[in-house]
Amino acid sequence: MTKAVRYDEFGGIEVLRVAEVDRPAPEYGQVLVRVKAAGINPGEAAIRTGAMADIFPSTFPSGQGSDLAGVVAEVGAGVDRFVVGDEVIGFSERRASQAELVLVDVDNLTPKPDSISWEVAGGLYVAGVAAWGAVHSIQLDSGETVVISAAAGGVGSLAVQLARRAGATVIGLASEHNHEWLQTHGVIPIAYGDGVADRIKAAAPSGIDAFIDTYGGGYVELALALGVAVERIDTIADFAAAARYGVKTEPGTNARPGAEVLAELAALIADGHLEVPIANVYPLTQVRQAYTELERRHTHGKIVLRP
Ligand SMILES: NC(=O)c1ccc[n+]([C@@H]2O[C@H](COP(=O)([O-])OP(=O)(O)OC[C@H]3O[C@@H](n4cnc5c(N)ncnc54)[C@H](OP(=O)(O)O)[C@@H]3O)[C@@H](O)[C@H]2O)c1
Repeated sequence: MTKAVRYDEFGGIEVLRVAEVDRPAPEYGQVLVRVKAAGINPGEAAIRTGAMADIFPSTFPSGQGSDLAGVVAEVGAGVDRFVVGDEVIGFSERRASQAELVLVDVDNLTPKPDSISWEVAGGLYVAGVAAWGAVHSIQLDSGETVVISAAAGGVGSLAVQLARRAGATVIGLASEHNHEWLQTHGVIPIAYGDGVADRIKAAAPSGIDAFIDTYGGGYVELALALGVAVERIDTIADFAAAARYGVKTEPGTNARPGAEVLAELAALIADGHLEVPIANVYPLTQVRQAYTELERRHTHGKIVLRP
């Protein structure tokens, strides 16, 4: 038997439990990974409450989680790219990564560079691919100015760095306590809330070229009010606004396979060009506490579970 996060009905954090389940056996093209770290994401909470049931239906009992990093424990037939003992980064497409052992399709794995910590590797997939996709979708040119909302969050903290690497001037919307981190990463920090449009205009007198919204709640409208063209606005959080105004909703995986993007991001991290801030690490058994912290919506970087 082995441990895995499960829930049996839609609901709040209290429906989450850590269950004893059968050890999974890899089928053709699958790899069994002993999970060392698994990041958590707001989308999982939205799926768990049933708020996204029309887009992402659930069957019960449900597992949870996409992000993972770990060590190959077994390989199925047809797998020749990995052997037992290899350290890997990857993702589950079956909401199953928050577990001691998880089955992963071989195409959803990439080798973990030695120099990357388990926490960083295990928290990379969802936020990393979303940040990569958002930055690519708005096609930044060197010298352009982009505003990014929730700039120090899981997705935002990576998006600001990738936008800087594209040569853009980056304005990051965040609370005061995150301004120093943004500044040390070459980002102009601006507090959100009343008067934010005026503060952005003052920081960018020649105008804003593009906007990445990683929070929702009115930032698409703010981008339009700032004069940003619809095709230069990407939101990963406000699909109603996207449908209303025709702005982009690029999650990243449409452009390139997730494992390829993961490999590119992992190489940047290993070379010291990209930082993944780790806000907190919880044992798997404290999955409820981990989501309690996440759902306060003030995480700087990633929260990660360690089975
Ligand atoms: N479509 C996709 O594929 C996809 C992929 C990943 C994520 N997402 C969605 O993207 C959103 C962000 O995900 P995440 O993992 O980055 O979340 P997160 O790490 O929980 O984001 C927390 C951040 O939100 C900021 N924040 C709180 N209130 C804010 C406000 N009123 N205005 C601006 N920022 C505010 C906080 O900033 P301060 O602490 O500085 O206040 C904190 O840094 C979620 O809605 C998630 O579901 C979508």
